[in-house]
Order: sequence, then C-alpha cells, then structure tokens
Amino acid sequence: MNQELDKIIILDFGAQYSQLISRRIRELSVFSEIIPYSSTIEQIIQKKPKGIILSGGPASVYEKNAPQIDPEIFKLGVPVLGICYGMQLMCKVFGGQVQKASKREFGLAQLKIKDTEGLFSELSSGLSVWMSHGDQVTRVPKQFKVLASTTNCLFAAIEHFEKKIIGIQFHPEVIHTEHGEKIFENFTYKICKCSKSWTMNRYEKSAIIDIRNKVGSRRVLCAVSGGVDSTVTAVLIHKAIGAQLTCVFVNNGLLRMNESRLVQEIFKKMKIKVYYLNAEKIFLNNLKGVIDPERKRKIIGKTFIQVFEMFLKNLKNSKKDFEYLAQGTLYPDVIESVAINGPSSTIKSHHNVGGLPRKMNFKLIEPLRELFKDEVRRLGINLKISSELLFRQPFPGPGLAVRILGEITSEKLKVLRLADLIVQEELQNWNEYSKIWQSFAILSSNRTVGVMGDERTYESACVIRAVHSTDGMTANWVRIPYEYLERISNRIINEVRGINRVVYDISSKPPSTIEWE
Ligand code: XMP
Repeated sequence: MNQELDKIIILDFGAQYSQLISRRIRELSVFSEIIPYSSTIEQIIQKKPKGIILSGGPASVYEKNAPQIDPEIFKLGVPVLGICYGMQLMCKVFGGQVQKASKREFGLAQLKIKDTEGLFSELSSGLSVWMSHGDQVTRVPKQFKVLASTTNCLFAAIEHFEKKIIGIQFHPEVIHTEHGEKIFENFTYKICKCSKSWTMNRYEKSAIIDIRNKVGSRRVLCAVSGGVDSTVTAVLIHKAIGAQLTCVFVNNGLLRMNESRLVQEIFKKMKIKVYYLNAEKIFLNNLKGVIDPERKRKIIGKTFIQVFEMFLKNLKNSKKDFEYLAQGTLYPDVIESVAINGPSSTIKSHHNVGGLPRKMNFKLIEPLRELFKDEVRRLGINLKISSELLFRQPFPGPGLAVRILGEITSEKLKVLRLADLIVQEELQNWNEYSKIWQSFAILSSNRTVGVMGDERTYESACVIRAVHSTDGMTANWVRIPYEYLERISNRIINEVRGINRVVYDISSKPPSTIEWE
C-alpha cells in the first residue's frame, strides 16, 4: 500500500523520538515510514522516498558498534535531514568532526538563525529549541555552511552548499521546540516538494481495495473488543467484504463492568452480526497460579487463539472456510514490539503482536498496521462510527489481568470491577474527564490493616491511576481535584467489600508505565 504516495522515510538510529518525527510528518498529510538504519540502499530506493530523515540515537558516532550510515544515501539526489545523532553521522561521512560537548545539553536553548531561507523560511531569527545531546559537531565539513547556532552549540544547524542535505542538533519533533511544525513543513513541502496525499479518505479507499484483493472469496474472522482499534478494523473490513466477515466477541472474564453488553449493543446498532463467546472459565483456568505479567500476556494471547479455533471447529459442519484473522494492530505496536535492530528495547510485549503463538492456523490481516491512533480515529469518523466510541479511553487487550497484581481469581475480578466502576462514575462528573487518556483502578497484592465500625479489617489496597497522554508513549498523572479523589475513596471503601484503603498513583511515564504490569 501507499507505493504511489509521496513519502518521507525515517531511518531509525534508536531514537526515543522516531515515532514523533513520523507523526509530525503525517500531520502534514504526507506519508512517513520508520525503517531500521541498517536498511540497504536498494531497500531505500525501492521505497521511492521524496525525503529522508536520519533520526537521533543514544550512541556516539565514533564508538565501536555505533550504528553507521551508508554514504550512498547522500548520493541519491533525495533531500536528507539529519537530527541530532543523524546530523553527527552526516558530518562524520563528509569529513567533519564530532566530540563530547563540554557540557551535556538537555533542555531549552535559544537558537539564533542566520539563514532564513529553506529550512527556516518564514520563521523569525530567534527560536526556543529542545536540545538533548552529549556529543556535538565541533568542525563542520567544508562542503557545509552554518544556518543557526546557540550559545553552547555553534553548529546547531548546517546545510550542504550544493545538495539538499541539512543537519540540525536540536529536536523539532518535540513540542517544546517553538515552531517545530513549521520546520517540518518547510522540509516536507518546500525542500522535498511533497504533496498532501496522505488523507484518511484516500487511505480508506486503498485499504478496501487491498482487503478485497488479499481476501478474494475467502472468509475473515475478526475479534472485536469494543475498543477503537478492533471496531474500526471490523467496520472497515465489513465495508470491503460484507458477509465474508464474521465478528466474534470473546468474553475473557477480564472485562470491565457491563462491557460485554455494551459491545453487543454497539455492533447491533451498526448492523454487523457478532457471535458472543463466553470463555471466562478457559481464560481463568489457563491463568491459574500465574503471577508474572509477561506470562499473563502470552497466555492470554494464546488463549484467544485457542478459543477462536474451538469456535471454528464448531462451525466446520457448516463448511465455513476461514483463512484470515483480522487484528487491530497499530503502527506503534509494530514498532514497539519489534525492536528495530536492537537500538530500541521492548518494554512490554503487547498481546496482539508479541503474544501470538507461532503455530497458528490463520493468516493475519491487519488493515491499521500503518496508522497512529489519531489516524485510526479519523478513519473511524470517515466510516461513520459514533464519536462516543471513537473517543473512549483505551483499554489493554489483557484487560483487568494486568491490573490485578499477582494471581487472577474471579473474586479479585469482582472486587476490581466494582472499584473501577466507581472510578469511572465519579470522574465522569468532572468537567475535565474527556481530557483524561486513561483512568482506572488497580488491585494491589498488598493487604493492609484498617478499622471499620469497631472491627479491625485486613483487606486489599486499591490504587487509582489517571494519566494524561497523547499516544500512551509518555504520560503524566492527572491532577484530580481532592473532592473527586475523596468521593472515589469513600465510595470504594464503603461499597466494595475486600478493599479498605485507596491510594492515588502520582508517577509519570517514563520512568513508570501506565499499567502496573
Ligand atoms: P504502558 O503500561 O506500557 O501502556 O505504559 C501504554 C498503553 O498501552 C496499553 N497496554 C496494552 N495494550 N495490550 C494492549 O493491547 C497490552 O498488553 C498492553 N499493555 C499496556 C495501556 O493500557 C496504555 O494505553
């Protein structure tokens, strides 16, 4: 797909910000794709990029085993923008010099722009920019001119005299950089001459053609969860192949209160038939005694497949021949789970990618694999899915299993469901609720002493978590007003048997993660 679109490719040198770069470009309606730094020159040419961005990365260019670049890239006649490590590599190739900066620079710096053509066109001569580097260029290659400097970094932006090869030491992809979007706009439209061809309308049309071509007259099975990703996947595939799609909703016993009813109602409204499979017992049985979070995820992934296969076996009599399994895998899942050649590490294996057993009797169909979450929502709007559903908070595939620390039991699930419902009910009264990325309860494995009436209690502590985030990659805890926290705490302790203490999690991501497991 997207072979014919104008595109910018991002060579990933292990930067934590590669995805952000990609999103910034797509926000300009231009397709962008992240590929490993080790991609061969042939692979790059095949993609027909109109521009190449070299990402940052944690290494030092002269270090042994540091990711390197094929100098042929600079001979393709395609504009190149090197960011941070990408700029340093570029300088190394052209005979400049990179050294440890006398002071590690992390934070905002004032950029003085000397050349307001090209990359900095239509910008004022001073900008606040985000710096995050230990090394920097200390001698500019002789083929390059200096475009901008900061007090600590004389060569903050450089450009080849003849070719469209530019290096910047700061990070325009981070929101702290003033007018970062304008810098990308200049690179994408003015320098690479890309046209605005990446729209969800166009994506929908080409995805539908792709799905039809791939599936032919065969059948597709799609598991829906009521989340944005699986719903958009199902509606898109349904639009492409109609009754060749069969949707299944698996009640894995790890769902929130009322979720199962809600999902069935949503699909009924959209006139898409959904089979309901009650697999609570199988999941709980497979999870018995399991404590390790990664094992929980893997078991849940496997159990889903086991349940699908059982369902299909029962259908065999009616000769329904399923070949494909549809999944709502998104671009960040793909990048996060498949650590690209080592530089970025896997933090949690998301069950819809990492947890799938290798021996599976299905081929996968993943029509959202190239999209970021905000793009999936825009596609959903195109497909006329209700915005109430599209803007629901994300809920992890492994469900409450990663919000109950320790072993999962049906008793603990009951307790957590009730506590979680109270968190939702109370927070929905707050006028800032729609700005929250995720809010939920966690059942800790600690029991604490309390006193209720005249009696000593010894029950679980419940944790409340609420975070702001734009993509789940980073997050900040929400400053919930005390009155709401107080009501949540009072209600949980009074109404949920088994909990006698409520605490609020005030950690951000990083260094913590959003889920507790
Ligand atoms: P973390 O806990 O990694 O979560 O900061 C980031 C986002 O991902 C969701 N999450 C998952 N989603 N399968 C999923 O489908 C998983 O195994 C999984 N683990 C975390 C989490 O809810 C948050 O939105």
